[in-house]
Amino acid sequence: MAGGFAEAGADLELVGITKRFPGFTAIEELNLTIPAGSFFALLGPSGCGKTTTLRLVAGLEDPTAGRILIGGKDVTTTKPYQRPVNTVFQSYALFPHMTVLENVAFGLKRRRIADPLGKAHEALRLVELDHVAQRKPAQLSGGQQQRVALARAVVNRPALLLLDEPLGALDLKLRRQMQIELKDIQSDVGLTFLHVTHDQEEAMTMADTVAVMNKGQIEQMGAPEELYELPKTAFVANFLGQSNLFTGTVTNSGKESIIVDVAGTKIEVPRERAQRHAGEVTIGVRPEKLMLHTSAPKPTPGTNVIGPGRVNDVSFSGVSTQYSVTVPKLGNVIVFAQNMVFGPVVNDGAEVWLAWTVDHGFGLLDDPADGPRFEPDTDTKSIAVQRREKLEEELEEA
Ligand SMILES: Nc1ncnc2c1ncn2[C@@H]1O[C@H](COP(=O)(O)OP(=O)(O)OP(=O)(O)O)[C@@H](O)[C@H]1O
Ligand SMILES: [Mg+2]
Repeated sequence: MAGGFAEAGADLELVGITKRFPGFTAIEELNLTIPAGSFFALLGPSGCGKTTTLRLVAGLEDPTAGRILIGGKDVTTTKPYQRPVNTVFQSYALFPHMTVLENVAFGLKRRRIADPLGKAHEALRLVELDHVAQRKPAQLSGGQQQRVALARAVVNRPALLLLDEPLGALDLKLRRQMQIELKDIQSDVGLTFLHVTHDQEEAMTMADTVAVMNKGQIEQMGAPEELYELPKTAFVANFLGQSNLFTGTVTNSGKESIIVDVAGTKIEVPRERAQRHAGEVTIGVRPEKLMLHTSAPKPTPGTNVIGPGRVNDVSFSGVSTQYSVTVPKLGNVIVFAQNMVFGPVVNDGAEVWLAWTVDHGFGLLDDPADGPRFEPDTDTKSIAVQRREKLEEELEEA
């Protein structure tokens, strides 16, 4: 069904894009290529420049410097309505007095496209809402309205669909469901999706490629798994999931691996997984890669061991249990253990050693003196609430 629907998606290229607002640089020298037909996620904390990037692509802002190309064509000075782009914003603003069908057909009618209603029905079938075509938006749930907004954008067959936190208003379960549907729609119609989110799980489940943005720059970009397994900066290591990071001095830089002395404990990291091989470095390991031992494990080649430490918190979360362990001189270490047995493996206060396969470690590019630049913000809901409160304040002031 969808086969006849799509025109092919187009490449999007941002070349040296800079955006300065009076007294504030929101984006600095951004270079980015998104191949046609891909699902690309721009992930980053509040204020890092995601919406600004989308607005630049849509033509709602002019870049201070740089060029924007869609399908190889320079659109930098093109008016928004002349760009093959549609945007779905977080507040989806359907016309309340029109039916669902009229909402979806609206853009087609205005552009005098043939058979607007037929095409609108087709788009509604795509989001599985054709059966409510005659209802008004107020008679739909939030998630259904969201899907109508999506149908309204997709029906225009944009070569490039921009999604600015389109699922932010939905509850967790509905959001997960919509993520899967969005992904299906994208692969069905073959359009290029540029999806903006600050929800790392959403970015990882949906996108072919994720770019992690921080303070107007892309820190790292790649397939979700690649970014997760081999973060290159402390920001990425902590924004995308959690990490245990240790800073120490390289005491041995070998062909296969480096040895880092962290407050007297030697930790080995594969050379190819470390961005720096000398001096002071920060290294890390993901919490689910750690194994808990209640007695000192025998030293084995290919395994790092730290400890003993003391469990200071055990929190059960269904599929896994999170342990927080204080290791003298190394600090607090987080361990995720899958719940294979009933009850925790060790209790609060227990003495434990932590071990992991050398191959699972990674070494960062950061200067350890940099320190974390942002607190990770993974709580989408609280951000949505904060934003709403801010809007309400502004409304009251106005
Ligand atoms: N018109 C403007 N004038 C001045 N500064 C602006 C303007 N628009 C955005 N900014 C600033 O640019 C920065 C990036 O804003 P942007 O809206 O792109 O962030 P974002 O990544 O979308 O954040 P969020 O996740 O909160 O939506 C922010 O610090 C913001 O205050
Ligand atoms: Mg935004």
